[in-house]
Amino acid sequence: MGSDSPEDFWLFGYGSLIWKPPPHFDQRIPGYIQGYVRRFWQLVLNNFPSEDHRGTPEAPGRVVTLIEKSFWETLDDPQRHTEKDHVWGVAYHIIPSKVREVQEYLDIREINGYSIQYTPFHPADSNLPDIHCLVYIGMPDNPQFLGALHPQDIAETINSSIGPSGENREYLLHLEKALESLSTNSHDEHITDLARRVRALAPPVRLSQLQGSTYALKRVSSTEEQEEIEKEV
Ligand code: SIN
Repeated sequence: MGSDSPEDFWLFGYGSLIWKPPPHFDQRIPGYIQGYVRRFWQLVLNNFPSEDHRGTPEAPGRVVTLIEKSFWETLDDPQRHTEKDHVWGVAYHIIPSKVREVQEYLDIREINGYSIQYTPFHPADSNLPDIHCLVYIGMPDNPQFLGALHPQDIAETINSSIGPSGENREYLLHLEKALESLSTNSHDEHITDLARRVRALAPPVRLSQLQGSTYALKRVSSTEEQEEIEKEV
């Protein structure tokens, strides 16, 4: 396994790509990359035509990015409990005839400040060889990278952000659940801690006030979409 030919396209997903897969994959392999720390430190706007609109320009949400461990160590992260540099996720192999189409799809979906990097991926099944993967990362110099944030502030922002793709808290809670399903080792304390904090918060008032409104209708279609995707994974 590897990217010996241009058509041999492997993608590593560590955020929404775990539970909301790209189209046209023929293999999905759980595993991890090394040398990075996953954090909800990337701001997400309602950036048409990106797929992940989990905030609005007035109330932007938060999504995950990866930070190189050596750089992360220079930052004042209040969550120092996550010292390991394994980031668990999923590698997808894209059907060769669909590579160009999927790359175009990803370039739109991951438009929110992410740029393309490459990294070795280690499958959870140690009988499988390492894979050279493409990964979308919100690098520290992108304008939507926020730097070290306090977890309670992240949780409160996530809890109150909603955009046309759905609730920002849905993104977090799906990610937590998807991670727990990958391996007995795939727990990520940053994610679990944020999910715990968000569950402890009252749901935003405006969600319960939106019954019958345009937003409520959009929420329903988003949930249905996610259910379809969960059935597939
Ligand atoms: C990823 O899932 O790999 C990138 C971040 C995201 O789209 O949530």
